[in-house]
Amino acid sequence: MYSTRFLDIPPLVAAAGTVRLPGSKSISNRVLLLAGLCAGSTLIHDLLDSDDTRVMLDALRALGCGVTDADGAVRIDGIGGTLAIRKADIFLGNSGTSTRSVTAALAVLASTQGAQFTIRGVARMHERPIADLVDALRPLGCVIEYAGEPGYPPLRLGDGAAHALNLDGPIRVRGNVSSQFLTGLLQALCLVGNGHDVVIEVIGELISRPYIAITLNLLARFGVQVRNDDWARFTLPAGRRLTTPGAIHVEGDASSASYFVALGAIAARAETPIRIEGMGSASIQGDLAFVGAAQAMGARVRLGENWIEVSRGTWPLNPITLDCNHIPDAAMTLAVMALYATGTTRLTHIASWRVKETDRITAMATELRKLGAQVTEGEDFIEVSAPEAWRPAAIRTYDDHRIAMCFSLAAFNGLTAGNGGGVPVRVLDPQCVAKTFPDYFETLFAVVTPPAGSVPVITIDGPTASGKGTLASAVAQALGYHFLDSGAVYRATALAAMRAGARADDEPQLAWLARHLDLHFGPGRILMNGADVTETLRCEEVGALASKISAWPMVREALRTLQLSFHHVPGLVADGRDMGTVIFPAADLKIFLTASAATRAERRYKQLISKGISANIDSLRADLEARDARDQNRSVSPLKPAGDAMLLDNSALTVEASLAAVLDAWEQRRPF
Ligand code: DC
Repeated sequence: MYSTRFLDIPPLVAAAGTVRLPGSKSISNRVLLLAGLCAGSTLIHDLLDSDDTRVMLDALRALGCGVTDADGAVRIDGIGGTLAIRKADIFLGNSGTSTRSVTAALAVLASTQGAQFTIRGVARMHERPIADLVDALRPLGCVIEYAGEPGYPPLRLGDGAAHALNLDGPIRVRGNVSSQFLTGLLQALCLVGNGHDVVIEVIGELISRPYIAITLNLLARFGVQVRNDDWARFTLPAGRRLTTPGAIHVEGDASSASYFVALGAIAARAETPIRIEGMGSASIQGDLAFVGAAQAMGARVRLGENWIEVSRGTWPLNPITLDCNHIPDAAMTLAVMALYATGTTRLTHIASWRVKETDRITAMATELRKLGAQVTEGEDFIEVSAPEAWRPAAIRTYDDHRIAMCFSLAAFNGLTAGNGGGVPVRVLDPQCVAKTFPDYFETLFAVVTPPAGSVPVITIDGPTASGKGTLASAVAQALGYHFLDSGAVYRATALAAMRAGARADDEPQLAWLARHLDLHFGPGRILMNGADVTETLRCEEVGALASKISAWPMVREALRTLQLSFHHVPGLVADGRDMGTVIFPAADLKIFLTASAATRAERRYKQLISKGISANIDSLRADLEARDARDQNRSVSPLKPAGDAMLLDNSALTVEASLAAVLDAWEQRRPF
């Protein structure tokens, strides 16, 4: 997951390959709650692992449910409708589904069994309405108090005393703000009064019906068949009892699929479509209907039971006018697809956008305009026309995962006529995708192709012990870029030579070893032939041999391809001796880092001492000066600053100060 302050996505032009979807959020959270409320044990496969499911799991634990990991699946031992814990403070983050449905269930249980719970969330959750649910539950006799603003969480449920509920008359709930209120009631009312039918009536319009369909489908899987009279009246039958299905699979998330369906429509060729695995025609999720909308805009689609393949059909895309009431979440993706359409796209019946993670109508309009699009917004609609001239923009994400995900698709602007190579897109606070799809960007980057020269490279070259490794890795981390420690590939070659007993002057054998290195770079560690060699590579002995063998042209040539292979979306920070001069001569920013020999010797000395290795500062200094001389005087790729490098002497700088200097220089080269 990217936890950087921003993520710059370079211009992209093509997409191909297979993505595996994370589990559906809507299904995961419903299944979790139902499994937690029913008796017995439920094994849940392919559960979504994200912020929204984590808060639900925490809530279940707080209620005394068993939550165990079972070989990648999650086992929930339910409370069987009887509270084991009678007081708890439950935090549900920014998860609307969890907040609404846990509130309904606990209001019913606390009121009938004499318990008391508080329900809280993040600040935004305390701005998301819940009055319609509270107003439906109170007339039954449920004890619910607003602990903050009336109409919004936080809430206090129950007063510690047991009350009988009146379930005789139809229970009435409004359906035009959020369908989650009805979902909450349907689930909660399985827990009480099962001696007779319970009827729920929807007042006015019921929006987002497909989400109710998911609820009904899952209730049936847990043994309760609800009668649905025209989406206006729902009857929970007498004798109902939530019963575990034993094991259940969560299908891939259809809203998450929308980004990849759009991706295929924008950038995949028919011969090499984007293949999405984890959901398809058999899906119970309403956002499957997004596929039809994407087709209307021009996508070419093949739909299997559990997969979807999408490629570009019509291009530029067709503008559409669509009532999006049934696909409110995926409709945001349509608004971004509209950037690639030939006219104005009008999405209507989306008033619910205003009470989601943020006011999505305002947010989408504001951010689309930053890219140059013409946007008209109304109380419950949005109209989007493609930019005449695309602008590089820093997209605010408002702690809304879907804004971050759908705007990543704006990086394909280079495909629109007259837009040259395209402009990059900056996504601020990209970690918000953790709500439903923590690995979204990694998944996207694995199936996209940038045009030549679009993926940025920052090179940091310098002499031994100048601190370039530390600095380069910090820069890479701050920007979410890949990191190449090129010294490590020379060191690995030296280690391979030592192990193979190769002579330091046997150039062909050394080059052969270099070409056949089995190296893997993981976060903070380097594996060679499957074993962790991170520490071994740092030995002075290995470094000294690396310095010698790196003088051989055949060795350098053999390691070139390996080094170039690090150059991926979204970008690369590479450190070494010849990154800016030979390997990445067209790098976007080149730093040449130096420090006095005395400073470098002292740093290395401290480093060794801290590891308990005895060292002598004078001989260390002599060694590193000898190595400098070798690195600077060899005939191939001698160590020297690139002509266009920025010189940075860090003798008197902290790592933070050096980092700030590099990030500042980088920011000046960015178009945002
Ligand atoms: O940066 P380092 O100390 O880990 O590098 C070890 C040796 O590898 C160094 O003495 C010279 C060589 N090297 C090189 O020739 N070119 C690079 N790009 C990186 C390292």
